[in-house]
Amino acid sequence: MPVNLKGRSFLTLKDFTPEEIRYLLSLAADLKAKKRAGIRGDLLAGKNIVLLFEKTSTRTRCSFEVAAYDEGGHVTFLDSKSSQMGKKESMEDTARVLGRFFDGIEYRGYDQAVVENLAKFSGVPVWNGLTDVDHPTQALADILTLSENVSKPLNECKLVFCGDTRNNVAYCLMYVCAKLGMHYVGWGPAALAPAQDVLDYCRETAKETGAVIEYGEDRALLAGADALYTDIWASMGEEDKIPERVKLLTPYRVTGEVMAATGNPACIFLHCLPSFHDFETTTAQAQKELGYDIREVTDEVFRSKSSKVFDEAENRMHTIKAVIVATIGR
Ligand code: CP
Ligand code: NVA
Repeated sequence: MPVNLKGRSFLTLKDFTPEEIRYLLSLAADLKAKKRAGIRGDLLAGKNIVLLFEKTSTRTRCSFEVAAYDEGGHVTFLDSKSSQMGKKESMEDTARVLGRFFDGIEYRGYDQAVVENLAKFSGVPVWNGLTDVDHPTQALADILTLSENVSKPLNECKLVFCGDTRNNVAYCLMYVCAKLGMHYVGWGPAALAPAQDVLDYCRETAKETGAVIEYGEDRALLAGADALYTDIWASMGEEDKIPERVKLLTPYRVTGEVMAATGNPACIFLHCLPSFHDFETTTAQAQKELGYDIREVTDEVFRSKSSKVFDEAENRMHTIKAVIVATIGR
């Protein structure tokens, strides 16, 4: 049966079958080729989309905006400072109102329950633009980028996430790897190991797809990786945890030596961005002055030929476009 995602929300990859995920990846590749060929479409003509951001963003917001405009859609941006959302109006009422105006709602914030309730009460597709525990549009872009850089099927690929293996990006990668039959490793300290329910879900899924899901502190886990991936050590909302994270995660910084430990010269480096790879940001500089080196990757690796982070950032737009088109497009 052909895949049909019309009217569906995109809250977590757990809700999607391997076939549906492969369909979104293939649609994203087609839309990317179309954009590269200079073809503007009208798949979202007449569609109005609202973007709700309770946390900051560069890539996700711009991806939704450009993706919608490219296909003839319109977007409205709201954050908690400039709207009633959450302060003077409950999320349920906000959802019910926005569902009367818009064809789709993007939400970025803290609690996964909020994005689920938006979907429940708005009556229109809702797309998760990041919560504390998931970032599903990110994982699509990551897998598209990996597939562009390997010459073997995804189910023969090994991806290692280095660092805070219980954060939102690590979790969405675990889900996508489990669904697509890939080999996922979380390489990080036991104190930041993935939650048991996430591991249980991925290992149960792996029984059906042939995926391998591992985590641990041993550097031997890096062997044979096709991609090393990392993310900042303290996610949005966790800034007070920087001192303890630096202590825990410094051994897991992605360095040239760590890349070499894969034993695979073709291994690529991936990062969702934003990244601390030098001291050119006010945050990294301020932390340095306090005695903390918060770089999760060295500048050498970040700027190396193996690094595909800007292709990955571009792919956020193509994959988000695929999600919008698949769920509300013509
Ligand atoms: N990777 C990502 O979600 O980036 P932004 O926080 O800039 O949206
Ligand atoms: N883990 C990071 C991802 C940012 C895209 C955060 O939540 O801040």
